[in-house]
Amino acid sequence: MCLRADKLLSNMGYGSRKDVKKLLKQGGFTANGETIKDGKKHVDPNKDTLVIMGEPVEYREFIYLIMNKPKGYVSATEDKNEATVIDILEPEDSIFQPFPVGRLDKDTTGLLLLTNDGKLAHQLTSPKKKVDKMYLVDLDHSVSQEDIVALENGVILDDGYETKPAKVELVDEYNSTRVYITIQEGKYHQVKRMFQTRGNKVIRLERIRMGPLHLDPTLELGTYRELTEDELSMLMQNE
Ligand code: URA
Repeated sequence: MCLRADKLLSNMGYGSRKDVKKLLKQGGFTANGETIKDGKKHVDPNKDTLVIMGEPVEYREFIYLIMNKPKGYVSATEDKNEATVIDILEPEDSIFQPFPVGRLDKDTTGLLLLTNDGKLAHQLTSPKKKVDKMYLVDLDHSVSQEDIVALENGVILDDGYETKPAKVELVDEYNSTRVYITIQEGKYHQVKRMFQTRGNKVIRLERIRMGPLHLDPTLELGTYRELTEDELSMLMQNE
């Protein structure tokens, strides 16, 4: 991954473009022992040995972020018309070119993992791995016991696809319009379409768990953080 020296330095928080220009001019940046004074020069933080003001540059290969996705953002790296979840990231994180692991609809909120680790992303999204995705769902009207049994056993979606076994539970026994549903697949609009087969309508959808990873209740909508070492090792064990 090659990028301009001035971009790398400003992304890493070494000040404005002007500050970075000054730092470079003063000879404060070297790549493989060679002083880089021209900010346009490209460096590869994964391969080159970079030193800023005598300190080696810590540049990691992989980044793992957990986001509480807000409504109004599409789960993609680029979109012609819509804001994407990548737009939420700070430059020092987007520089690693993370992408969302699996998709949440534009109006779905909740747990979204972003990484540039393609192998882990594949492990978590491959249907063969049967990774649980758990959602909190608010519905337009009540779910009956019959609905629960049907949804758990598999329903035929509008395109003829029969869903695999799922788990459906009422969040509390006195409110039958709010359920948890856990599925191990990720077809387009799957949860919404599953409830549609029962003549119901999802009015709010939030992902609260993916495999061993839970949505952090302290993470406000539209914010994110790096995975903790424990979270990451749990995800890796799932491989
Ligand atoms: N199912 C849906 O219908 N939408 C999502 O965003 C995720 C699962």
